[in-house]
Amino acid sequence: MPNDSRIGQGFNRLSSIYDFVVWLVFGNKIQNLKRSFIQSLPTAENTLIIGGGTGEILEYALESNISSRFVYAELSDQMIIKTKARISADDLSRIEFCNDYRATLGEKKFNYIIVPFVLDCYRYKDVKIMLNEFTSALAHKGSIVFFDFNLSKEDGFESRQWKIYFIKLLYVFFRLTTSIPAKRLPSFSRLFSEAGYYKAHTTLISKGWIQAIEWKRESRIKASA
Ligand SMILES: C[S@@+](CC[C@H](N)C(=O)[O-])C[C@H]1O[C@@H](n2cnc3c(N)ncnc32)[C@H](O)[C@@H]1O
Repeated sequence: MPNDSRIGQGFNRLSSIYDFVVWLVFGNKIQNLKRSFIQSLPTAENTLIIGGGTGEILEYALESNISSRFVYAELSDQMIIKTKARISADDLSRIEFCNDYRATLGEKKFNYIIVPFVLDCYRYKDVKIMLNEFTSALAHKGSIVFFDFNLSKEDGFESRQWKIYFIKLLYVFFRLTTSIPAKRLPSFSRLFSEAGYYKAHTTLISKGWIQAIEWKRESRIKASA
């Protein structure tokens, strides 16, 4: 697996400008997508957020009260500091912060594992391993809540050359600044379906370029049939 501490240090360096740059490029589109998708989730017991960055996703999850307790796993200490600054003292008492999500696996089962623009940092083979880890950490009927880019026509991307080049450019930028191992966007649908998941709920924006998907396990359908 990739070197987590180098990735964390890389995102430490970007933490002060990260949200501003996302806003410059995408305006409020991504924020609005995250907020409305999170609002649609029913309340549960335990949620694991991985790679939540400066914490806006945690803020939306608390706002919508989707969970009683949260684990917030973020490799970058600076991102964690920014996240804590957004959260009230009351809410902080129900959030456990850590760098490595693997340390929490096995301790409890999660109803939601939320991965906002984080699986795109990893190669196909890394995501495959991560999905297996998530599967064993999910509670019965739990789901993976996934936000990311999409370049696959089968998944609704209305192809535009500049969007494909833009993603290439993003990878060059993030590989140089944060040492992420990925060089290109993996085929997420293939990865999730190989790991036994189906799409329970999908929202696409920007003509399918950006996706929010709630993935559930296939076995749940068979079990209830
Ligand atoms: C591209 S940024 C996305 C930030 C935010 N979620 C967003 O949507 O804007 C990826 C974030 O994931 C974090 N990250 C990457 N790999 C991680 C891992 N294995 N565990 C926890 N955090 C991770 C990075 O430190 C970084 O803050």
